[in-house]
Amino acid sequence: MTAPRTPILAGNWKMNHGPSQAARFFADFLPLVQPADDRSVVFFPPAVSFAAAREAVQGRPDVRLGVQNVHWEEGGAFTGELSVAMAADAGAELVLVGHSERRHVFGETVDETVRKVGAVLRGGLVPVLCVGETIEERRADRAEAVVVEQLRPVLASISAEQLPTLVIAYEPVWAIGTGVTATPADAAAMHAAVRRTLAEVYGAQAAEGVPVLYGGSVKPDNAAELMSQPGVDGVLVGGASLDPAGFAAIVAAAG
Ligand code: PGA
Repeated sequence: MTAPRTPILAGNWKMNHGPSQAARFFADFLPLVQPADDRSVVFFPPAVSFAAAREAVQGRPDVRLGVQNVHWEEGGAFTGELSVAMAADAGAELVLVGHSERRHVFGETVDETVRKVGAVLRGGLVPVLCVGETIEERRADRAEAVVVEQLRPVLASISAEQLPTLVIAYEPVWAIGTGVTATPADAAAMHAAVRRTLAEVYGAQAAEGVPVLYGGSVKPDNAAELMSQPGVDGVLVGGASLDPAGFAAIVAAAG
């Protein structure tokens, strides 16, 4: 039997909350959330706020930190980029890879996500691979196909031993920052498609061990229903993770 998947409540701050705001956020947020070992709370602050976030969460092993992006090379002339080793040295445990803004605003390709996931795993950190379709792709009835096309090359590039380290986030592009959420049924269907793809490559039992989060306009008032869907193992939250009380309510919704 596979151990039940621990819910993950993740906040992606994107290009928000500089160091002083990050410190203020945690001063407000941490007292609202009691440490618990049956869930995992994760923040992805901007790189310049990482040190302030790390200092603020000292003594709270229930809160983990990650970075929003890395380069796959180990170092060198890559102005503006971060290596996995630097992120690890700074205290990051997780790395977002292939967030829809990276793919659609910055033109990140599937091949680049493959390289990044490989680099993150080699560096001993947890890749949170984001996948999701645009509204045009959904209307063309290609939502599942697109997500499978984003997933398969990454799955093909990692080993069965590395699979348990991977986290996947299904984030429909049309739901990100729009206030429109996937219906719980649509989310459940897409999560099932993700797990089917995992099972096709690695077998059903290995697939059961991989957490699959939902992201896209998750708010305190819809988080519980989304997380109650089969196969939804937590949430990746953008806008609503910037507000301490709001994100604390989302954490509480994990039960
Ligand atoms: P949102 O962003 O919650 O603001 O829609 C989600 C994400 O981009 O991870």
